[in-house]
Amino acid sequence: MSLLEIERAYKGFGPKWNRTEVLAYINLEVEEGEFVAIVGFSGAGKTTLINLLSGLLTPDKGSARFDGKPITGPGPERGVVFQNYSLLPWLTVHENIALAVDQVFPQWTAAQRREQVEKYISLVNLTPAANKLPRELSGGMRQRVSVARALSTGPRVLLLDEPLSALDALTRANLQDEITRIKREDEATIVLITNDPDEAILLADRVIPLTAGPNATLGMSLQITIPSPRNRKTIAEHPDFKRIRLELVEYLLKSAQIKKVTLDRKIVLPDIEPEDLSLPRPVLPWIGRRGPIRRSEIKTAVVEVEK
Ligand SMILES: Nc1ncnc2c1ncn2[C@@H]1O[C@H](COP(=O)(O)OP(=O)(O)OP(=O)(O)O)[C@@H](O)[C@H]1O
Ligand SMILES: [Mg+2]
Repeated sequence: MSLLEIERAYKGFGPKWNRTEVLAYINLEVEEGEFVAIVGFSGAGKTTLINLLSGLLTPDKGSARFDGKPITGPGPERGVVFQNYSLLPWLTVHENIALAVDQVFPQWTAAQRREQVEKYISLVNLTPAANKLPRELSGGMRQRVSVARALSTGPRVLLLDEPLSALDALTRANLQDEITRIKREDEATIVLITNDPDEAILLADRVIPLTAGPNATLGMSLQITIPSPRNRKTIAEHPDFKRIRLELVEYLLKSAQIKKVTLDRKIVLPDIEPEDLSLPRPVLPWIGRRGPIRRSEIKTAVVEVEK
C-alpha cells in the first residue's frame, strides 16, 4: 500500500449547469520516502491537486487516501507549504512556527516546544530573523519560514506547492539545496508542485506531468535515474537529463494543443417559437385578436383554380 493515493479522482468548480472540470481521472501513488514532482502549466490545476492531498478539498468522484485511510481534512501528518506563503502577518517568525508546534504537541513542556521551534528556524538559516514580522522579510525568507513551519510538526509527508517559483535564481538554488538536504537527512516523503521541468528533474525521484486544463490529468511517470545528490551545474550534460526533459516538455506541449471535447453539457432550449415580426399580423379568427403569429401557424395549401 502506498503512503499517498489518489484513485480515479475528479474535481470541478462552479454550479452544475456551468461547471468546469479542473481535474479528471487523476491516479497517483506516492511511496513512503519517495520524492515525486508534478509539473504543469499555470492554471492547469496543480494547487487543486495538492489541496486534494492536503485535505482542503475533497474529490467530487474517486478517492484520496493517506496511509490507507480517506483524507477528510488537513492533518499534522501532512505538512503543506502553500504557494502564497500564508504566514500570519501580526506574528513573528518564531510565533508563526510556535503556533503550529503548540497545536500539534500540546503535551510537550514549554521548553521542549521552544527547542523544536528554534531547531527548525535554524534548519532554514533564519535564526537572526526569528523575531521579525513577515513584512520585514524578503519573499525567499518568508518561503523558508513556511518550509520550517511545515517541517516543525514532524509530518510524514511534505506537500510543496510551487515553493520556489517566486524566488530569484540564487535564493531558489539555496532552497532547492535545503529541500534536498531535508529529503536526505529526514528521509521525508515529498510531493513537489512546480512549473519548471529542470527543477523537477534536479530534485525528484520521479516526475509526472499534469496535462493542460480543463480536464487535466496526470501523464506517465518518468523515473529519474540520475544518481543523487545531483549537481545543478553538471546535470544538464547527463544524457538521461536531456532525454527526460525532452519527453516531459513534448508531452506537456502536446497536451496543450489537443482540443478538449466535453460531451456532458447539454443545453435544453425552451420549446417555443419566437414571434416573427416580418410576417403580416392579421386578426386571427380562432383567437379573435391580432397575432402573435409564428411560421408554424401559417398553413399552406395548394389550390387548383380553373381558368
Ligand atoms: N475555489 C475555486 N473556485 C472556482 N474555480 C477555481 C477554484 N480554485 C481553482 N479554480 C480554477 O481551477 C483552475 C485551476 O486552478 P489551480 O489553482 O489549481 O491552478 P494551478 O495549476 O495551481 O495554477 P498556478 O500555476 O497559476 O498556481 C483555474 O482555472 C482556477 O480558476
Ligand atoms: Mg497553483
